[in-house]
Amino acid sequence: MRLSIANLLVTFLSSFVLTARADDILTAIANMHDCPSCRDVLVQLKNLAVQGDDVFVEGFIGLCDTLKLADPDVCEGLLTRSGPIIAHDLRQINVTSGKASAGLCDALFGFCSTNTSTPFQFPLPPSHHGHNPEKSPASQTRKQPFQVVHISDVHIDRGYTVGSEANCTKPLCCRNFSDNNGSAISDPAEPNGNAKCDSPISLADSMLEAVNVINAKFVISTGDVVDHFNWLETQSIVEDELKSFNSELLAKVRSPVFPSIGNHDTTPVNAFARSSSMTSNNSQFVFDLSSAGWNHWIGNDASKQVKHESGSYIASVPGTRLRILSVNTQYWYKQNLWLYDSDEFQPDPNGLLAFIAQQLDAAEQAGEKVWVIGHIPLGKEDIVEDQSNYYDQILQRYKNTVAGHFFGHSHKDEFQIAYSDYNNQVAANAISFASIGPALTPTSGNPAFKVYEVDPDTFGLMNIRVIFANMSKPSFQTHPTWGELYNARDLYGPLVNLPPSSELTPAFWHNITQVFQVNDTTFQLFNALQSRDGAVGPCSGECKETRICDLRAFRSEDNCDTPSPGVSFRRRSIGETTTESEACEGFGLRSFFKALHAAVLLHD
Ligand SMILES: *[C@@H]1O[C@H](CO)[C@@H](O)[C@H](O)[C@H]1NC(C)=O
Ligand SMILES: *[C@@H]1O[C@H](CO)[C@@H](O)[C@H](O)[C@H]1NC(C)=O
Ligand SMILES: *[C@@H]1O[C@H](CO)[C@@H](O)[C@H](O)[C@H]1NC(C)=O
Ligand SMILES: *[C@@H]1O[C@H](CO)[C@@H](O)[C@H](O)[C@H]1NC(C)=O
Ligand SMILES: *[C@@H]1O[C@H](CO)[C@@H](O)[C@H](O)[C@H]1NC(C)=O
Ligand SMILES: *[C@@H]1O[C@H](CO)[C@@H](O)[C@H](O)[C@H]1NC(C)=O
Ligand SMILES: *[C@@H]1O[C@H](CO)[C@@H](O)[C@H](O)[C@H]1NC(C)=O
Ligand SMILES: *[C@@H]1O[C@H](CO)[C@@H](O)[C@H](O)[C@H]1NC(C)=O
Ligand SMILES: *[C@@H]1O[C@H](CO)[C@@H](O)[C@H](O)[C@H]1NC(C)=O
Repeated sequence: MRLSIANLLVTFLSSFVLTARADDILTAIANMHDCPSCRDVLVQLKNLAVQGDDVFVEGFIGLCDTLKLADPDVCEGLLTRSGPIIAHDLRQINVTSGKASAGLCDALFGFCSTNTSTPFQFPLPPSHHGHNPEKSPASQTRKQPFQVVHISDVHIDRGYTVGSEANCTKPLCCRNFSDNNGSAISDPAEPNGNAKCDSPISLADSMLEAVNVINAKFVISTGDVVDHFNWLETQSIVEDELKSFNSELLAKVRSPVFPSIGNHDTTPVNAFARSSSMTSNNSQFVFDLSSAGWNHWIGNDASKQVKHESGSYIASVPGTRLRILSVNTQYWYKQNLWLYDSDEFQPDPNGLLAFIAQQLDAAEQAGEKVWVIGHIPLGKEDIVEDQSNYYDQILQRYKNTVAGHFFGHSHKDEFQIAYSDYNNQVAANAISFASIGPALTPTSGNPAFKVYEVDPDTFGLMNIRVIFANMSKPSFQTHPTWGELYNARDLYGPLVNLPPSSELTPAFWHNITQVFQVNDTTFQLFNALQSRDGAVGPCSGECKETRICDLRAFRSEDNCDTPSPGVSFRRRSIGETTTESEACEGFGLRSFFKALHAAVLLHD
């Protein structure tokens, strides 16, 4: 085995062997099949990391190029940006034991993941009796609902070039890459978007015009404004993309906007350093520019919070008793590699959970309701089980104050239900509901957004309408038209005899998941709608069971996702995404290390 790899890497080894035992690294990777053997890989990587960031980064660029895991510009761009964070982690932590190294193995290779959280009771004040808001009004007293628009994952590519190659060799296409200069174009990028590419500006403009027509009371935007060209990002590109979208929202949409920060809204991608890391590479530039760019909508106090609370804030919706709590979920994201640079147990990175609990307590005392908005929902395998569990503890305490959750990230139109007892998932125990996505970016389905019809007293949802632009219509490329794909009340209400005056409560959604179990026609409809009637994969049997289990998992320890180590990856398929979390990440380090693992096994 070692011989064949050595033969393959003969040119690479000659430059690399002087600084590190490349052989040992590749052997450890070839032998990796479980958590302990993944830690063995980290031991070898640490030997490289202690020789400095440059040695570490150059070594992996060499591997990436030699094994042709990606085009040279992609290898170089990705590893120079994110490689130093891994090297930093490896130097700081015990790689043979502990949670940090397990987390790193999970993030990079898909091993050592657990579906358990570290037991910890998050400190919370007792209930303030008398402040719990009253129950839903009787049907005859319901007022006319107001409308709210939810947009997410716009991923606008400001370098999108009409006529460039949409079927390129990179993880993402539709740019005029210089190394494609001269080759005939097989699939020219169209004016308003292509399924292999992020959103052109024209598509985003078209959506904002459709949003403006709705005349919503307000708009929520749950992050990921920046494109998926992770390997090309610089601070000034990210700043320009974030600022441009803020200006476009301000110019085109008359409703106030409540935004959140996504994992792509910084550089390196996903990298939000914890305050405990003692580094200046902490994405503060994102908080500073968002603080200024969002001030118009969220006001001075919330703007100050964005700057000083690592991107999170709370703001009141004018003329209502509703507050929007926008949360920077990236401190709970497994692909944020800054989370693995200390062996010390840190239950609340950057004090985010404490901030949330404090704001919910204040809202409870004022008798007001809160919508929690953020980029990454808490129930999937890509969220750290610890913080997901501790957030859930806060939710259990403030369930009468939190009137809704709204997230993006998966690019899908889906939901997650929270229960007072996850071992007894019945309608009566359903306490909260998170509405997720869909995305504007066409990479995983038709461009879409949601419109909520909201009860002005309870701030519960009376309906969810999904508005989309059908990319398969020939007219899409000259003028996208936006129309209703479906609305939840008409589609699902009759299946559970929903009374006309009832909200779409968490219990309602639980009952819909029960319908999915017994009525496969409805489930298959949901499966198609989940990917916005775009890239629909078949789902039955175990896939269906997992999907329903995940809809009932608000905590990541409760989902039924199985970790997917790199063995399914083949060499040229690095841009293809096999799991949902990879689709969210784009081409990042997880994709690179999975591809590396697969390539080593292929040559074994
Ligand atoms: C932090 O930023 C500096 C300057 O850009 C860079 O040299 C260094 O590698 C970064 N450190 C990490 C861990 O990313
Ligand atoms: C790492 O942890 C193991 C197990 O707790 C311990 O035996 C070992 O000494 C630690 N290594 C270092 C370098 O601290
Ligand atoms: C997750 O939990 C189940 C039992 O609830 C267990 O069988 C399974 O091995 C666990 N998975 C992991 C990756 O720990
Ligand atoms: C791509 O760039 C080349 C060289 O700058 C230029 O000649 C060509 O017209 C460009 N193609 C498109 C589709 O813009
Ligand atoms: C494209 O190719 C032409 C001729 O092959 C060359 O002169 C030109 O510099 C190339 N452009 C880029 C952007 O690489
Ligand atoms: C995309 O490129 C691949 C490889 O160059 C080729 O096999 C395939 O036919 C192309 N697809 C389209 C739609 O042009
Ligand atoms: C989208 O348009 C295509 C082509 O006109 C059509 O076949 C398809 O049914 C449409 N999809 C939806 C959900 O309306
Ligand atoms: C959900 O189903 C349960 C049991 O069938 C029923 O008692 C309850 O009324 C239903 N709730 C809603 C909101 O549909
Ligand atoms: C199953 O679902 C389909 C589509 O949602 C619906 O038309 C049908 O009436 C349902 N069947 C039953 C038995 O409820």
